[in-house]
Order: sequence, then C-alpha cells, then structure tokens
Amino acid sequence: MPHFKSINHIEVGYSKIISNPITIALEWLLAKFYKFKDGLIALAKRLFPRRPEIYGKQIDSWLVGKIIFQTKGTDEVPIHHLPLEFWSRTKIGQWRKLSEGHTEPDGTFRLPFDLRWANRFWVSSLRFEVCQISHVYYKGGEAKTVHSLFHKVKISKGDLIGMEFNLRTIPLCFWEYRDDVPMARVVIEKHGKDAPQQYTEARVEAINEQMIPVELTKVKHLEQIKLDADSITLAEIQADYPENLTVCIEKKLPGYTRGDSWFGERMMNGMNRGIFLPDPAEDGAYWMKYFGKHNYGHNEEYAFPDALMKFKIKPDGLPTPVMIRLRGPLNAINKDPWQVRDFTPADGETWQQAKRVARVNGGLCTEVDEHFAGAHANIEQYAIAAYRNLRLNPLTTLLFPHLKEVVLINHTADDILLHKYIPHATAYTFDGLVARIADVMGVMDWKSFETMTPLSEAHTYARAEQLFWDITSQFVDSFIDQNKADIIKHWHEVFCFSEDLVNHSVPVYLSDMDFSNLDPREKARYEEMKEYLSAQFCFDYDMPRQFRDGHLRTVSPLTLTTVLKPEQEKEEIACLKKACTYMIFVATFLHTWANEHQYEDIGEVLYNCLGLRFGDKESGVLAPEHDLSIAPDLTRSTQMMWFSNLLSRTEYGFITRNEDSDINPHFCSLLMAKKEEFAALGVIVENIESRTNI
Ligand SMILES: [Fe+2]
Repeated sequence: MPHFKSINHIEVGYSKIISNPITIALEWLLAKFYKFKDGLIALAKRLFPRRPEIYGKQIDSWLVGKIIFQTKGTDEVPIHHLPLEFWSRTKIGQWRKLSEGHTEPDGTFRLPFDLRWANRFWVSSLRFEVCQISHVYYKGGEAKTVHSLFHKVKISKGDLIGMEFNLRTIPLCFWEYRDDVPMARVVIEKHGKDAPQQYTEARVEAINEQMIPVELTKVKHLEQIKLDADSITLAEIQADYPENLTVCIEKKLPGYTRGDSWFGERMMNGMNRGIFLPDPAEDGAYWMKYFGKHNYGHNEEYAFPDALMKFKIKPDGLPTPVMIRLRGPLNAINKDPWQVRDFTPADGETWQQAKRVARVNGGLCTEVDEHFAGAHANIEQYAIAAYRNLRLNPLTTLLFPHLKEVVLINHTADDILLHKYIPHATAYTFDGLVARIADVMGVMDWKSFETMTPLSEAHTYARAEQLFWDITSQFVDSFIDQNKADIIKHWHEVFCFSEDLVNHSVPVYLSDMDFSNLDPREKARYEEMKEYLSAQFCFDYDMPRQFRDGHLRTVSPLTLTTVLKPEQEKEEIACLKKACTYMIFVATFLHTWANEHQYEDIGEVLYNCLGLRFGDKESGVLAPEHDLSIAPDLTRSTQMMWFSNLLSRTEYGFITRNEDSDINPHFCSLLMAKKEEFAALGVIVENIESRTNI
C-alpha cells in the first residue's frame, strides 16, 4: 500500500508518499531485510546477553573523565547523573560488564574496574557507553525506566596502563538548545539523524492508516489546480473532505452556524474557548479580544485587524454577541491601522460579515497563541529542561510519558506550519509569527496559572477544565507524596531543571519595551493587549521574577536551592506539585482541546479559515461568503482542509487507552472514575491525549 515515509515527511504540498509499485516492492524487500536484521540482532542478544553482573575482582584501575553539554559558548555546562557503563567483548562475542556508574553533579565520572581482567587475552574489544532514559513503562503497577545507548567510545586494550585511563572531557550534543529563536527549542537538524527521541512505531502506523486517504484527496486537488484551475471549485474541494460539524449542522438547520447563538456558544465552549473580561462600564457585559497583525511582520494579501467582541449572557447561560469592533485595515485601499468600525446585530448583512472576520481572527489566534505557543512551544521548554536534567529523580516516571514526542512534532510544525502554510494562508510573515509566539509565551507561567472561572452552568469548557485540573492535581500530589524522600534526595536535578527552564524562557511580554517615545495610541494598545493576554493566560505581573542574562524571565523558578532543607520543604514541594500539575495539564487536556476541536471549528473553509484576503473591492473583507475573492484560494483551501484533518483526526497516544503502557495506572483510574461527569460536560475522557504529539 502507498504510505508515508515518516511523520516528518508529511508536506503541506506533496508529502513524500511511497506509491510507485516498484518502489513499494523494493521497500517491501527492504522491510523484510530490516526484519531479518532485527531478527539477527535479537538472536545475538539471546546468544550473547548483556548481564548485569560486574566481571573482575581486583579493582585497581579507574576510567575517568567529564561529560559536558556541547554548547557554543565558552562556559562548560556539566551533564549530571548520566548512566555510564564499561563493557568488554570476548573473542567469541560474549559481553562482560566491567563497571557501571553515572556522572557526578559536576559532570565528572570515575568508574572502577579490574585492569588485569580488561587486559586478558580473550578480551577482544572494550567500550565505554553513555546512556539516556529512552522510555518509561509500567509493569504490575510499577514504573520502569529503560536506558538506551546515546554515545559510545571505543577503548584500545593497549591504552589501558596504570591506575587511570582518562577519557578527558566529552562534549555531547544532548538535548541542546537552539540559538536562532527567542524561545526554548531543541536542536534537530534531521529526524532520524540527530533527534533526541523517536516516535513509537505504532504512532507512525496510526498516522499512515488515518492520513493516506486525506493526503490523496489533497494531491488530487493540487494536480487538478495545476492542470486547469477552472476545472475545480472551492465547493467541490470542500465536498471531497469528510463533513465537519458545521457542514453537518447546516444540512439540518440551514443558517444556524452563522447565527448569533452559535457564534457565542463556540466562543465559549468551542476550539477558541476564549476568556470573557467583564466590561467595567456595563454590568453583565463581557469583552473577548483577538489582537491582529498590527505591529507584527505581515504581508499585504490578508486582513488581520484587531477584533474586539462584546457579549451578554443569555438566560440559558450562553453568550450572545452584541457588538463587534474591528480596528485596522479591512480592505486593500485604506491602510490606516487605527481605523475603527463598530458593528451590531442591527447592521444586518454587514453584522454577519463582521462576525465572520472575528471568527477567522479567532481561528488564527487560537492556532498560533493557544495551540502552538500555549501548548506545543510551551511544553517543549519544559520537555527540554526535563530531559536534560532528570535522571535519578522519580519525577522522570511522572513527567516523561507526558513530555515525550513534543519536540519531534514541533520540528515538523516548524517546516510545514510555521514556514510553509501560515505565511502563505494568513497575514503573518514567518518573522511576524515567531515574534507573536515569543510575545504570547511572555505571559505563560506555571506559578500564576489558574483555571477559568465558569460564567454559568452552560460554560462547560471551564467546568471540564476545572475537573481535569483537580484530578491531575490529585494524581500529582499523591505521586510526589509517595516519592518525596527520593525526590528530595535528588533535589539537585530539580534545581538544574528549574535553572534551564528559567534561563531559556522568553522575556516577560513588553518587559524589554521602551515606552517613552511611543505614540499614545500605540502605548494604549500595548496596555490593552497586556491586560487581556495576562488574563487569558493567567499571568501575574506583580509576582517576583528572575533577571537572567539581562532579561526579566517569564517562567518562575521551581526552586532556587540545590539542597532542600527541612524548613523549606513545605513551600518548595508545593511549588513542585503545582509546576508538575501544570505541565501534565497543558500537555494533555489543554492541548487536546485546541487540537481535536480544530476540525469542528476550522473544518469548513467558508465558515472559518485562518485568513480572509482583502480582495480588490472597497468592501474588502466585509463581503458575503459567496464572494470568493476574499476566501482562501483553491490551493490554500485544500491545504487548510488537509491540515485540520491531519491535526484533529490523527491523534494517537491517549491517557486511558495507554497504548504504550507508560501512563501511571492511578491517573487512568482517577480519570475513569469521573467518566460520567466529563461526559455530562461533553468531554469523552478516553479521547484526552497523554502527550502533545500532533
Ligand atoms: Fe497539536
């Protein structure tokens, strides 16, 4: 069957699909060869097992050295607690372990071994191995960590003389930070070459099964557009993809999804799940705000004004829009960024059009601010810090199953989403997009995070969020209480994790901005954006924060001490519990929400795309849906449908289904016990993913 070469070969244009029958046949043979090779390796492992016992009795020599991060700077950053092994192989292939240990907090190691044993005649080769935790799994309710080889150094027998053999300083490119972007991202040049992790095989198979039909639909459209663009319409493109929620509703209730009730309901409980800020001037009125392209790098093809929406709560507890204020250019003619137009339901047709503009802004803001920045990039900064520093600490088994694979999918997103799709289908340029992501990440901190307060019984998103947070918190609290002694014993790892996290977090939003020479309107807009974003992401500007490398860092430290004293325990453990709850909550529930609702809210091109074009008329984006000059073009339309299918419909790795046996059974049982409560809020608990991997 045709299939993707790998997840990293998915393309917004033509994905690399192996479809030629000859290639498929050759690839089949290659797969058989690899299977044969794997069989030989498995046989060799059975014939020549690597047993845990240490060979040699007279310990009279030491393997010494130091392991550091391979950074570009001059400072040496040690890698602590890396598992190390020293192996020999006999002339008939038997493995004999000569020593084991791990690096010290300063990165040095000193592995004792029997020199005479290592120099025996039948020893054919020697090698020093550096390992890392490759994965975690549960067996009989117990967590196990699996080590895999990360780096090896061959040692010549002839070099082993005297009491010490010095391997000197070994720099490793181990979960290295990129230095070309303002936020914490890991170095990956090429998947499969230097990625610090790999997807599980089942994850790759799942995406193959789910995505091939969608990929073929997109390829068919791209070919047709290339041959004769007039031979296909946007409606035909839409019809070729599976029906989404709005298309289904429109079939039964024409016009309903364009009405005010639906608009309000989706803003509250849909993908956007926005924050409603009370209007200080009017009791019972609320504002929801989407900030547009304004001072971010942008192109001139797409509109992206600020959309400020005023809502009132209906007797049924759901919001209804009463006013929409659009600030910024709405057509290609008047480019004044400060032009403002207000719309109300009394405006008839233009009210419908203004709602569409606001909805589209919501789609883009949710994708960039909430989904990519808020979940993907946010979790990557925790994942890098965790994998760089946690090894002996039991927090590995708590966090790694929820932090894995995010760096891999983010690497793919860099290419297809950030470079290729968004700059061509929305107002953002790539640089504008990166600046926005950094700004929004400048108001995301675990320490000040709070769940949303429900506005009414009908605010089901906020109620589900609260329920999930409470369960996650209960699970984390019990895990940390049970493992407290070992967590405190290895507190140095928590300190290093925290330092990496703080030092590589983005500067607090606007903290580097010089306001003195700003236009008063510009200043007021920044203040408005700061107020709204800090409410949206629960950021407390008054909380004390760390200045590092000349910047005020967004993420609060988990701890500032390398050794936890008894008098510090209560406060520091409480911080650790909250930070761990936040990481797991964001990587699971928060990401799943944005991800799986994409197909509902951005799965019908004319209802909600990520960018409306200005077109060439004076009406600009204030035009009816049948004016296709402002809709995405045919190529962007099929790509958008492909994207929303890819992201919402190829999920794999759910908490309660526990496909990789890596989820703590206690977390599963706590969630399943509340299954009915979640269902009453419209959440299928079995559909919450255990990690951010699509
Ligand atoms: Fe995602």
